[in-house]
Amino acid sequence: MTEGNIAAWRVQEGASFSAGDVLLEIETDKATMDVEAQDDGIMVKVMEQDGSKGVKVGTRIAVIAEAGDDASTVEIPAEGGKEGSAGVDTAKKDRPSPGDTMEGGIEKTESSSNAAESPPSSRLEADAEAGGAADTADAAQKKSPSSGKQGGKVQKQTYPLYPSVEHLLHLNGMTAADADSIPSSGPNGRLLKGDVLAHLGRINKDHPAQITARLLKLGHLDLSNIQLAAAPPKRDTPATPPPMAEVPQDTELAVPISLSAVIATQKRVNDTLGIFLPLSTFIARASELANEELPLSKNRKPTADDLFNSVLGLDKIASTRPSSRGHYVPQVTGLPPAPFAARKAAAAKKIDIIDLLSASARPSAKRAAPRVIPGAVGISAGENVFSVVAKAGDESRAAEYLERMKMALEKEPGSKGAGGNGSPDHDLNCLTIDELQAHAHTMMDKQTRDYYNEGADSGSTLLENIEAYKKYRIRLRVLRDVSKINTTTNLFGFKSSVPIGVAPTAMQKLAHADGEEGTAKACRKRGVPMGLSSFATTTLEEVAEASGEIPNVLQLYLFEDRDHSRKLIARAKKAGFKAVFLTVDTPILGRRNLEIRNQFKLPPHFKIANFVDEEEPALSDETTSANQSRARKPRANSTAGYTDGEKRVTPTGPITFHTHAANPTLCWEKDIEWLKEECCPEMEVWVKGIATAEDAILAVHHQVRGIVVSNHGGRQLNGAMATLDALPDVVEAVRGQIPVHVDGGIRHGTDVFKALALGADFVWVGRPALWGLAYKGQEGVELMLKLLADEFRLCMGLAGVTKVEGISKEYLVKIDKSGFVARL
Ligand SMILES: Cc1cc2nc3c(=O)[nH]c(=O)nc-3n(C[C@H](O)[C@H](O)[C@H](O)COP(=O)(O)O)c2cc1C
Repeated sequence: MTEGNIAAWRVQEGASFSAGDVLLEIETDKATMDVEAQDDGIMVKVMEQDGSKGVKVGTRIAVIAEAGDDASTVEIPAEGGKEGSAGVDTAKKDRPSPGDTMEGGIEKTESSSNAAESPPSSRLEADAEAGGAADTADAAQKKSPSSGKQGGKVQKQTYPLYPSVEHLLHLNGMTAADADSIPSSGPNGRLLKGDVLAHLGRINKDHPAQITARLLKLGHLDLSNIQLAAAPPKRDTPATPPPMAEVPQDTELAVPISLSAVIATQKRVNDTLGIFLPLSTFIARASELANEELPLSKNRKPTADDLFNSVLGLDKIASTRPSSRGHYVPQVTGLPPAPFAARKAAAAKKIDIIDLLSASARPSAKRAAPRVIPGAVGISAGENVFSVVAKAGDESRAAEYLERMKMALEKEPGSKGAGGNGSPDHDLNCLTIDELQAHAHTMMDKQTRDYYNEGADSGSTLLENIEAYKKYRIRLRVLRDVSKINTTTNLFGFKSSVPIGVAPTAMQKLAHADGEEGTAKACRKRGVPMGLSSFATTTLEEVAEASGEIPNVLQLYLFEDRDHSRKLIARAKKAGFKAVFLTVDTPILGRRNLEIRNQFKLPPHFKIANFVDEEEPALSDETTSANQSRARKPRANSTAGYTDGEKRVTPTGPITFHTHAANPTLCWEKDIEWLKEECCPEMEVWVKGIATAEDAILAVHHQVRGIVVSNHGGRQLNGAMATLDALPDVVEAVRGQIPVHVDGGIRHGTDVFKALALGADFVWVGRPALWGLAYKGQEGVELMLKLLADEFRLCMGLAGVTKVEGISKEYLVKIDKSGFVARL
């Protein structure tokens, strides 16, 4: 620092101060700091006032006197030294002497010493000096010539003198020029305060040089005396290892289990249902069952309930055996048939972490190489060893588990293990479609629930779709060997595991994030086809990918602007869709009051995925009616079509359901022919929404490849016939020339049977799939399909039919209003 600013004086002229009082605040370019008084004193004169800028270090800024002096009589000393140097003249009470100095530019009278602390520049520089703190000059020693040998070299001082050095020189009556004749020991030959003190004889003359030498030495870390420690003397290793804590001994239990019954069941399922169930599925299901309600583990810590019961003596009178779920996972190893009994694990070996890590803790019995089943590593088609490790005390619990495994896999593989009434094959919380609907009800928000579940207007057609099935009863035929039931059926050149597909329903991601992709995967897993809505929340390409080898159907709303439909058809062909179901029951949108009341709209994070470039998300929902269109006006760039006198104005702008889906201009001649040209031969053209014999005949006439008898799940015209009631007429009119499918109200496997008995070739289910999605995503759709398939299979077996083609109206009777039954 070479200069600073006076921020403010804290002690005014004439005022007394004590040691430690703040005399003034100074500012440098880096900091603001207080200057404190070293001793008591009086402020005689302030030379540099508040706010003075650029005051050079060494400039006199004030004069102070010793405490008790009369400030009025103190004589201000004349300025001494040069500007920029640390030294200034000393004020004397009577006559100022140019020899006395003031640190920090504050001059003091002769009698005061170190009245003020040095300003930062002085202080910092002084710290660097080897000589330590400055002492008050002693007049007697002022002019003492240096004597004796002093460290350092005499040389001209080229650097500005340290303020403390200059101060000391002044105190001792010397000038800056005298500094050149004093041996200096500072860095680069700079004169230190210690050099001056040594020169004056105030300290030992060697002292500065010694300190400099010491600092130089300590500046480097001397590691030369560091040595490697000698190795500690070897101690004798103890002959025996320290005793280990006693670990309770575990026991390995094993039983031989034959998988031949499982393999036979696996083959049967594959032959009849076309579904391949891996052996691991049978084993996992058997294990799940065997782990149910095992005797309590002896190693189990009693719960608060147990303690409470035992205090009350309730444990003695419990009617059922206390049990808990086990967590055994069997180790399976293929083995040729050999007697095998529960045995102790290799000398009930103590648990050793190394053994565990290297897996050598496994059963070590020598076994002949088993006949391994391809794809089932380590499992033999004949005898296998199933083993588990039981904790001490739990041997009988583990043995019971293994016994149950044996029973499940050898005696009941097709029932308890995979497909019967045993719990492992069932979701015990959901055993019917009605229960699925109830679960879904709790999982969906109101808007979604209403949107999915409601029918048009009062919903009576929706209800009749369901009720219509109750008008029929099944006639059971017996003694027909139903040990083999084939539920498969052919469509689009593919064998569907059951005559049940998932109908196209819009916006499935509202139900669950798995959305249409989850439905596609579930259908693939169950081996059935799926219809994809034009207004899906997943692209048709993603669905095709998820469907794999399963042929799918694209449901089409044929827009008045053919470009959009043309593009969609081209994409569907490319993605491998096998058919297009043209929805023909929506020339105008039906009225769904809950949708209107809820002001249904697709949340903005979902997209109508197949028109993402063309649609407007907020409005792209399957909302109803002109009323609603009025309530929520479409944006200016998306308008529904309308008829202006004779002229029809087509919808414009981004594609939304309620502006584009309804197409009142559709007709057989113009549109069916156009569609066939666009789709064939890669995709078949079907019509979805036929409900009368007349239209069925026209469909045959226009050479569509199939019909779906549908009323849009009761969502269009309330008061329309139930689809099951419409079906027989359609079937009769078509006379087997094209396949007839039906949807609407199917909630049980017996409904499927009844629809087929009335002439349908295949059925589609809409809402149950949405409920499955809402319940558990893809898994829920699988569950829904399984429930219907199991019920349908059971119905076939109990009705005495073993093939889908064998289901006919002979198996049905109709119940009239008075409850009488009539043959069909
Ligand atoms: C929420 C919902 C959305 C639907 N979306 C469409 C659709 O986009 N296109 C279509 O042709 N049918 C649609 N349908 C009708 C179904 O394809 C099917 O005809 C109907 O759901 C069958 O009745 P079900 O639900 O009683 O099984 C929808 C049905 C529901 C319940």
